[in-house]
Amino acid sequence: MSQIQIVPMDERHLPALAEIERACFHAPWSENALREELGKGLFLVAEDENQTVCGYVGCQTVLDEGYITNVAVSHDFRRQGIGRLLIQTLTERAQQAQLAFVTLEVRASNDPAIALYTAAGYEPVGRRKNFYRAPTEDAILMTLQLRDAT
Ligand SMILES: CC(C)(COP(=O)(O)OP(=O)(O)OC[C@H]1O[C@@H](n2cnc3c(N)ncnc32)[C@H](O)[C@@H]1OP(=O)(O)O)[C@@H](O)C(=O)NCCC(=O)NCCS
Repeated sequence: MSQIQIVPMDERHLPALAEIERACFHAPWSENALREELGKGLFLVAEDENQTVCGYVGCQTVLDEGYITNVAVSHDFRRQGIGRLLIQTLTERAQQAQLAFVTLEVRASNDPAIALYTAAGYEPVGRRKNFYRAPTEDAILMTLQLRDAT
């Protein structure tokens, strides 16, 4: 892996993030939708030594609950451990923020992402029937418990 830094999402990242969203997802977040998250929750960006955006993870928070809304690594930077580093860093920040758990949805056929989340300690806790469109597919709901429910 080249020299990768994980930094908070900033205005300067937005065009690159929107481009990766369009490359990866059927319903991509626009630059404006990403901008709405600036300064809120936990949106982290991986950039290399040239400040090229390699990937990102976005997590909204409500009280002590985290909900991962976006995870992607740019095609040219995959399989170098950047997704793992983003999820690990998000977990550390979520612990520091005293979140009770972090949850997410993933397409049932998305083996790379499911493997990434499983290795990071996420467990399947449910299934949302026909949650995704184009193609229609179930979502697997996965959760990482950070502290015991009180
Ligand atoms: C899922 C994604 C973020 C993984 O990013 P990445 O930087 O390539 O992942 P890493 O190199 O950190 O891999 C970490 C682990 O994830 C799993 N993994 C990642 N890519 C994989 C693949 N193509 N096949 C199988 N397992 C994979 C492996 O367990 C891997 O560990 P290993 O390299 O020791 O085997 C990336 O493939 C991506 O952006 N996909 C498109 C967008 C997407 O589907 N996002 C998730 C939406 S819920």
